[in-house]
Amino acid sequence: MKFFVDTAEINDIKELHEAGLLDGVTTNPSLIAKSGRDFKEVIKEICSIVPGPVSAEVAATDYDGMVAEGRVLAKLADNVVVKVPLTLDGLKATKTFASEGIKINVTLCFSANQALLAAKVGATYISPFIGRLDDINIEGMELIEQIRVIYDNYDFDTEILAASIRTPNHVTQAAMAGADVATIPPAVIKKLAAHPLTNAGLESFVKDWKSTGQSIL
Ligand code: E4P
Repeated sequence: MKFFVDTAEINDIKELHEAGLLDGVTTNPSLIAKSGRDFKEVIKEICSIVPGPVSAEVAATDYDGMVAEGRVLAKLADNVVVKVPLTLDGLKATKTFASEGIKINVTLCFSANQALLAAKVGATYISPFIGRLDDINIEGMELIEQIRVIYDNYDFDTEILAASIRTPNHVTQAAMAGADVATIPPAVIKKLAAHPLTNAGLESFVKDWKSTGQSIL
């Protein structure tokens, strides 16, 4: 499973990229607002750090506006993926972008039927929002499982990008359900490496090594 980081914070992106953990980046208007920076500048900077796909979301909600904005975003860097919402206008825009060779991440997916439509119009990625479904007492991970079956039944190339990931368990479950990608907040990626037994084991190894009085170098 590929790892994207879900943030517009440059320091986090640099740190995780240097650790070799990133295959790409996703942003959304809320994350851009949180960064307090100019949208296009921050996307260009992220694209210069991470060579993988970087999702930049349109702000318009009508077909003409999404297409006009998406074409501008796609020109910011070769690795920009235009993110559009899963509405009928968003699906129409996806079809247009796909015919122009622009990569598309269809976002705000909350049902298997929505995911089916996105694949039919040529989405590069579909983003089912796990955490937001869990928030309303619907098992988000079941959606990933359903989409996996549907896409495999018909050999769709659209990649399943598990989004709205909130916990390390979400990451494990998305990988087990066969998601192609998970986009994960920086804090959750860092938590994946942590285990109390690793810390306890390391502490005793360090103590015992010191007691030998030896040095490897
Ligand atoms: C996906 O691309 C979205 O940016 C993101 O995963 C949303 O996550 P949230 O529901 O935690 O805001």
